[in-house]
Amino acid sequence: MTGIVVAVDGPAAAGKGTLARRLAAALDLPYLDTGLLYRAVGRRVLDADADPRDAAIAEAAARALTPADLDRTDLRGPMADMAASAVAAIPAVRAALLDFQRAFGRDRGAVLDGRDIGTVVFPDARAKLYVTASVEERARRRFLELQARGVAADRSQVEAEIRDRDAQDANRPVAPLKPAPDAMLLDTTSLDAEAAFAAALDLVRGRLG
Ligand code: CDP
Ligand code: CDP
Repeated sequence: MTGIVVAVDGPAAAGKGTLARRLAAALDLPYLDTGLLYRAVGRRVLDADADPRDAAIAEAAARALTPADLDRTDLRGPMADMAASAVAAIPAVRAALLDFQRAFGRDRGAVLDGRDIGTVVFPDARAKLYVTASVEERARRRFLELQARGVAADRSQVEAEIRDRDAQDANRPVAPLKPAPDAMLLDTTSLDAEAAFAAALDLVRGRLG
């Protein structure tokens, strides 16, 4: 029997992960943060002192990925963000990560968050959410996260990096960031995490019937 797949896509720092993790707990489904896969590939390429746009090196890094790579503590931050987005534009990297993502959700079902879950990874997902918020609000959230981690950051710099990464993710030819035609849009600009979760759960339950 095939499990229920819930796809959560959207731009950087929209609150996808926070939301998807809570949805998974509420629906008793496994959760996968697919951004971590691209982050781990980007990290491996940076560790090799290579350019994350180098397709051959990035593909080799994607094929060599192990579960331990996903537990690294250095997968977040401006360098890691941009490296993830750069390797994510390479078709061979995306192809190398596709089977793992599909296998993760196939049997028991899952909630997955990323950019292309509803469009490419699981186009037949039972419920698809596209979570957004204004870029200013998303920058505010990411800035607060960095502060909480004790990372020195400049708010306007954080916003500029988010704009750059969204543009790179939305304009790439392969699996660009965009809502699936049947995705339910959730704008969380004026919702806190609790209210966003309640709204999302209503939408998803409505779709699951
Ligand atoms: O996964 P994504 O980058 O989209 O976002 P995240 O890692 O879940 O981070 C979102 C941050 O914004 C977290 O610190 C949340 O507490 C906060 N937040 C949220 O997730 N949802 C809201 N509606 C408001 C704030
Ligand atoms: O948490 P945040 O939204 O900042 O980023 P993330 O979800 O961890 O994703 C990091 C990068 O990986 C994104 O900027 C995308 O370029 C890429 N990504 C992707 O292309 N497809 C996915 N399904 C997930 C992430």
